[in-house]
Amino acid sequence: MRAIVNTIYGPPEVLQLKEVEKPTPKNNEVLIKIHATTVNRTDCGFRKPEYLIVRLISGIFKPKKTILGSELAGEIEAIGSNVKSFKPGDQVFGLSTYNFGTHAEYICIPESKSITLKPVNISYEEAAAVCDGAFLALANIKKIDFTNAPEILINGASGSIGVASVQLARHYGAKITAVCNTGSLELIKSLGADFVIDYTKEDFTENGKFYDVVLDVVGKSSFFRCRKILNPGGLYFSSELGYLSQNIYLALLTPLFPGRKVHFPIPKDRKEDIQFFKELIEAGNYKAVIDRTYSLEQIVEATKYVETGQKTGNVVIRID
Ligand SMILES: NC(=O)c1ccc[n+]([C@@H]2O[C@H](COP(=O)([O-])OP(=O)(O)OC[C@H]3O[C@@H](n4cnc5c(N)ncnc54)[C@H](OP(=O)(O)O)[C@@H]3O)[C@@H](O)[C@H]2O)c1
Repeated sequence: MRAIVNTIYGPPEVLQLKEVEKPTPKNNEVLIKIHATTVNRTDCGFRKPEYLIVRLISGIFKPKKTILGSELAGEIEAIGSNVKSFKPGDQVFGLSTYNFGTHAEYICIPESKSITLKPVNISYEEAAAVCDGAFLALANIKKIDFTNAPEILINGASGSIGVASVQLARHYGAKITAVCNTGSLELIKSLGADFVIDYTKEDFTENGKFYDVVLDVVGKSSFFRCRKILNPGGLYFSSELGYLSQNIYLALLTPLFPGRKVHFPIPKDRKEDIQFFKELIEAGNYKAVIDRTYSLEQIVEATKYVETGQKTGNVVIRID
């Protein structure tokens, strides 16, 4: 089968299209023919690790997993002898987070992992562009008390985690102020933001408004900048470790004191979350946001675009 292989860490050019052996499912696994996947920031972070923690997980000098890609949508081609919940021909979508391997024509995944039947009302390309941003967003959303319709500011609302955060926070009934670029204002309003702020024209920390929660899902601000716009007891989340990994330490220290707190949840993908995304999509309450679509052969180009940090939503790879 064709796959994108990287045997060394480095720039996008280390990604090479190769013929590799097609996997065979073990007793508890399904073999999926992948029709669409994505290039996301996690792929980029594991291809050229910036943080030591990534090398500790992925290999100190070279990657242990040589095929990246964590999102998928495709069709089950074969099943292992113990598999009960899927059958050949089922259309599925989901995640292979941290195990990667979706930048390929086929993958084997245990049936118990984060895959489920694809929503019936969307294409493979749309289905591939849901789960990574949504599960990363959900890790934060789960820590928020939505009982009294909290005021939430979402910085970086046009990224993959951003478009998911807006839609999930709207689903749970928050009042949302979203910060994004000029070109994304209408899109972000259509996804459910009550107010939008153009970050190229206005500093959201300087307009005198206060929030119960700040979700900095692009990691471009900091707790120290946002503390003044948080109501007493307010929560700050970031998708980045921050300067000197401060968000880790702040998440450990701020709960020990009264006042505003930093949360830095470690995201974990779960099958029931993928099923929840399917239900939201089929009920018309969640939309995949796709910026560009590339072929598998164009993965270097796709990766370079993702690394501009300027994508809107998701970048899809179509596998014909
Ligand atoms: N915690 C985790 O496990 C984890 C996993 C994956 C990714 N991440 C991190 O999460 C962040 C978001 O990733 P992503 O894939 O959702 O999106 P992304 O590709 O990093 O974000 C792209 C979007 O953010 C907007 N943006 C850039 N600078 C901004 C600013 N100063 N204020 C507001 N918006 C701004 C961009 O708009 P413009 O076009 O105007 O620049 C673009 O639409 C990244 O920093 C990534 O490294 C964390």
